[in-house]
Amino acid sequence: MELWESASIGNMTLRNRTVRSATNEHLAGRDGAITEALVECYEELAAHQVGLVITGHYAVDALARVDAGQPSLDERTDRTLLKTAADRIHAKGGKVAIQLNHGGLKASEKLNGRPSRGPMELTAEDRADLLKKYRFAARLAREAGFDGVQVHMAHGYLLSSFLNPKENTRTDRYGGSVENRFRFPGEVLRAVREEWGPEAPVLVKVNCDAVEDLHQVLKLCQEAGASAAEISGIRFASEEINGEPFYLKKVIEAREGISMPLILVGGITSRKAAEQVLQAGIPFVSFSRSLICEPDFIEKLKNGAEKSRCTHCNHCFQVYRERYRRCILHKKEIPQLRETFGA
Ligand SMILES: Cc1cc2nc3c(=O)[nH]c(=O)nc-3n(C[C@H](O)[C@H](O)[C@H](O)COP(=O)(O)O)c2cc1C
Repeated sequence: MELWESASIGNMTLRNRTVRSATNEHLAGRDGAITEALVECYEELAAHQVGLVITGHYAVDALARVDAGQPSLDERTDRTLLKTAADRIHAKGGKVAIQLNHGGLKASEKLNGRPSRGPMELTAEDRADLLKKYRFAARLAREAGFDGVQVHMAHGYLLSSFLNPKENTRTDRYGGSVENRFRFPGEVLRAVREEWGPEAPVLVKVNCDAVEDLHQVLKLCQEAGASAAEISGIRFASEEINGEPFYLKKVIEAREGISMPLILVGGITSRKAAEQVLQAGIPFVSFSRSLICEPDFIEKLKNGAEKSRCTHCNHCFQVYRERYRRCILHKKEIPQLRETFGA
């Protein structure tokens, strides 16, 4: 497998095997509105050869956002701007999947004005309401011309917590065995699949840790209709940096019998690491922090660069929230962001 050959997920064909992993851009406007700055951020990635841009997480429930920079996808969303986002990425030869999320226990009480809620707090009525919200958001994205959708089941948000036996100790059909813990994430996945139709790219993102049995989770995702699974880890920000992809070994151990394409993310900042992933038979390579640091990193790789300047220092978590810069290596503010948000 070659990084620069085209490859498919469901009925979507990508120009190469690179993916921009969902990364909260912290560029939403007031009350989670999509902004021109957010659109420009996607467009910039597509202009620099990223095969598939996965957007940062969009909140399907405007009252379960995790921070003020996170956009939501609901009745108030500007559909024209959403369509502009998809069109502008396509004009640069890229494809785009929107990531859908519910903040769960990580939702901000201060921002949302209500306590965060995880699997233990959600009633049957809440779950039914949430399924409607996932469906609505998925439909908006499809109608706007997005190429695919990713259901976020990783990193400690609501669906991740359902899968995590430490956070989900329910004793009903939604807790206990892995099949039961997957029940609600599976219902979400099936609902999104129904909205998008049988051939469309409906992706998931899962943790390789905090799930007890990655193989079983992948199998359940596949059975529930996932077109591809991206694998990350709940502790990605504190993994040891040694030039190796963080989760390669875990995925190799778990993938037997899994036929949907896998996408690996975590710690991949060099050509060598990206090629190692493909050589192991994993068809897509995904990047987050190296693309915060250098939005043109994929193009640089294509032109012969060996390594990103990103050192995984994690300052982006803070710097991003300040909104006018992205990475501590960026000396200059991004002028259009100051224009969008004011001084
Ligand atoms: C600032 C920042 C924001 C992130 N936002 C998201 C997000 O919205 N959705 C998501 O699934 N992962 C998010 N991630 C995690 C990345 O997608 C990725 O899984 C993780 O950073 C490991 O990849 P890397 O080593 O290439 O950075 C974020 C990471 C960072 C650093």
